[in-house]
Amino acid sequence: MNCVLLILYVTLLHSVLTSLPAPVNVSIDSHNFYHVLRWDPGPGTPPGTVYNITQSRDDEKEELLTSNTTSLDLLLDNMYEYHLTVQAFYNLTQSKKSKEITFIPSVHTHIDPAEVSLSGCGNCIQVNISMPEPYWGSGIQDLYDYYDPTFKLFWRKATKKPLNSSVVETHDKSYILGNLERGEYCVKVVTEIRINRNTKASAWKCTFTSPEEEQNTGFAALGVGLTLMIVVVGALMISLSFLYYTGFLGGSAPRPHTDSRNNKDILDF
Ligand SMILES: *[C@@H]1O[C@H](CO)[C@@H](O)[C@H](O)[C@H]1NC(C)=O
Ligand SMILES: *[C@@H]1O[C@H](CO)[C@@H](O)[C@H](O)[C@H]1NC(C)=O
Ligand SMILES: *[C@@H]1O[C@H](CO)[C@@H](O)[C@H](O)[C@H]1NC(C)=O
Ligand SMILES: *[C@@H]1O[C@H](CO)[C@@H](O)[C@H](O)[C@H]1NC(C)=O
Ligand SMILES: *[C@@H]1O[C@H](CO)[C@@H](O)[C@H](O)[C@H]1NC(C)=O
Ligand SMILES: *[C@@H]1O[C@H](CO)[C@@H](O)[C@H](O)[C@H]1NC(C)=O
Repeated sequence: MNCVLLILYVTLLHSVLTSLPAPVNVSIDSHNFYHVLRWDPGPGTPPGTVYNITQSRDDEKEELLTSNTTSLDLLLDNMYEYHLTVQAFYNLTQSKKSKEITFIPSVHTHIDPAEVSLSGCGNCIQVNISMPEPYWGSGIQDLYDYYDPTFKLFWRKATKKPLNSSVVETHDKSYILGNLERGEYCVKVVTEIRINRNTKASAWKCTFTSPEEEQNTGFAALGVGLTLMIVVVGALMISLSFLYYTGFLGGSAPRPHTDSRNNKDILDF
């Protein structure tokens, strides 16, 4: 009889202790080695619930972390495999552990697109590629040295469709696209890392093959440009005061298009 009561008591106690719902949607949001563990409270979780996170690694004893919000910044060693679970506590009740998630920083962190800069060199274009900065807490100085990535350079004439681009592969951070016809070309860089597939392509960037020529015409245009600027500014002031007096300028009227364009051309050599 006593035994039955004891079992009943233990069962009841257990159900009280686990009546709090376990956290759900546990995930790691990780970019450039900045890792944030996130989760959602199970339905019906009371406010004021705190969460204990267990973080384990094969060769180490479990680490216990605490959060009173639904996220936690993680500081991890880059090459190890981690297992993480979240458990809710409220007053004296506790939830079951959440589903366990597995995370290896250098394999799973998302790497932002490379930065691409272009400069025309006559019948060629120099493409410079730089990887994003890793999170300082990772201890990694440079993602290029860390990962030894391959870059796929997609390139095309500006007039052609992205689907119709050519592609070259390089390990270098600087690459020269040679033997080009004169004109405008566009380049996009895809970063490939053997152990990490979470990379993104850069946006397309475009430039002309010969900036020298633009520059020469630019200098020749300097005098013309200055004169033009004075004329434009004068005309602008007149038209602005005209608009003002005719009541068109309610304080936030859009600036005439010619204004910004001309200024840009003048400042752009
Ligand atoms: C878990 O994530 C799904 C999908 O984002 C969402 O619909 C659901 O509401 C989340 N659960 C909770 C308890 O927030
Ligand atoms: C939760 O974690 C903290 C340490 O981070 C620990 O002191 C506390 O005992 C843990 N709570 C439970 C119920 O395990
Ligand atoms: C959450 O914890 C932090 C420190 O761990 C503490 O400063 C803060 O007051 C706590 N917030 C609540 C709502 O308990
Ligand atoms: C915490 O638990 C104790 C005992 O189970 C109960 O008396 C108390 O009302 C609870 N407090 C809250 C805030 O739920
Ligand atoms: C590309 O890199 C080279 C050498 O590092 C440098 O001389 C050149 O100015 C860079 N070009 C651009 C467009 O950043
Ligand atoms: C790519 O260009 C070639 C000619 O250079 C053309 O035949 C082909 O249809 C183009 N493909 C696409 C997808 O535009």
